[in-house]
Amino acid sequence: MSEHPGPDPLFVRKIAHRALSTVLPAVTADTYANLLAALPNAAIALFDNNLRLVLFRGRALAEVGLQPDMLEGRLLGEVLPARAMSILERLCQRALKGKSKWLMLGCWSRIYEIHLTPLSARSTPFGMAVWLDVTQRELTRQVLEQQRNALDETQAHARKLAGRLLTVQDTERRRIARDLHDDIGQRLIGLASELAHLKRGRPPAAPDWAALVGGLADQARQLCRDLRTITHELHPAVLEYFALPAAVASLCESFSEQTALQIELTVDEAAAAIAPKGAACLYRVLQEGLRNIVRHAGVANAQVRLQRDPDYVTLTISDNGCGFKPGARKRNRGLGIVSMQERIKLLGGRFRLQSSAATGTEIVASVPGLKRES
Ligand SMILES: Nc1ncnc2c1ncn2[C@@H]1O[C@H](COP(=O)(O)OP(=O)(O)OP(=O)(O)O)[C@@H](O)[C@H]1O
Ligand SMILES: [Mg+2]
Repeated sequence: MSEHPGPDPLFVRKIAHRALSTVLPAVTADTYANLLAALPNAAIALFDNNLRLVLFRGRALAEVGLQPDMLEGRLLGEVLPARAMSILERLCQRALKGKSKWLMLGCWSRIYEIHLTPLSARSTPFGMAVWLDVTQRELTRQVLEQQRNALDETQAHARKLAGRLLTVQDTERRRIARDLHDDIGQRLIGLASELAHLKRGRPPAAPDWAALVGGLADQARQLCRDLRTITHELHPAVLEYFALPAAVASLCESFSEQTALQIELTVDEAAAAIAPKGAACLYRVLQEGLRNIVRHAGVANAQVRLQRDPDYVTLTISDNGCGFKPGARKRNRGLGIVSMQERIKLLGGRFRLQSSAATGTEIVASVPGLKRES
C-alpha cells in the first residue's frame, strides 16, 4: 500500500494566505486590546524615548496590584524598583535603537519574562515590551529541577553503594575461602594424619592413650564450633529452627563468648510473631550492631532489647562508648550502617540511630510484626 502523499505545501500556503488576508484587516486595535486583557499573565507595553509608558494593556502586573490605568503615562523608573530598573533601562534604550532582546526579571517577588522589540510609528521610535508573568512556570521548573537533581544524587549514591557492596562481597568471599582453606582445612588434615597414625597402632612414645584420643576429640569439637561460626555468618540457620527471641539470645551468647562483650539482654517473647524476612533482617542488624560496638565503641558492655508493640517488632542496641557524629559518616567508607538502613527500609520498617560522645550509640530498628489474631 502506498503512503498518502499529504497535502501539497503550495496549496496549503495559498489557503493560509487567503485566510490571513481576509481576517487580518478585520482585526482592530480594540480586538488586540480585548485579547490581551483576557490573557491572565500577559501584557503589552509601549514606551517612548523617555521610557514613559504610553500604553499598557493586559494583566501581567495585576498580581502585584498594578492595573493598566495606573501605569499608562508614567515613567518606567517611577513604576519599577531601582534594581529592576537598572537592569531593564539599558535594554529598553537598545530597543529604541532597533535591537530586540529578551530577559528574565525578578521583581516584587515575582518572575517576569520580558521581550523587547523596536517599533516606529510616523518615524518616532517606540519600544514594545511583551510582558509575561512566568512565576508559576518558573517555580514549577525549579521544583522539578531540584527533584531531578535529588534523583540524580540518589542514583549516583546507589551506584556507588552497589560498587562498594560488590568489592566488600569479593573481599568477604576471599576471607571465608582463606579461613576454610588455611585454617579449617589445615586442621582437618592434621587431625586426619593423627588418626591415620593411631590406625597404624599405638605410638610407642604416647604417654596416655585416653588423653591422646581425648585431645583429638577436643580438636574435632573445636573444629565443629569454628565451622558453625563461619556458616552462621553466611546464613543464620538458627532462624530456621528457632523463633526470633531465641535466635537473638543465642547470637548474644555466642558473641559474648567470642568477644568478651557483656550483653544485658531483654527479650519479649511476643516478638516471635514476625515474618521470616523481618526476623532475618533484625538478626542481621543485631550482628552488625554488636560487631560495631566491639570494633568502634571501646566499651565492654552493651544493651540489647527486643520488644513487640501492636504493629512493630523493635530491636534496640545501645552502648555507652565513645560515640560518633552520624552526620560525618559520609566520609566513612563503611557499609554496615547503610546496609542496616537499607534492609529496614526494604521491609517498610523504621530505623533511628543516635550517637554522641556523651551518650554513646543507640540503634532502634523496627519492622512490621505479624498481625495478632483477635
Ligand atoms: N557503636 C559505635 N560506637 C562508636 N562508633 C561507631 C559505632 N558504630 C559505628 N560507629 C562509627 O560509624 C562508622 C560507620 O560504621 P559502619 O558499620 O557503617 O562501617 P564500619 O564498621 O567502619 O565498616 P563495615 O563496612 O565493615 O561495617 C564506623 O567506622 C565508626 O566510626
Ligand atoms: Mg560496621
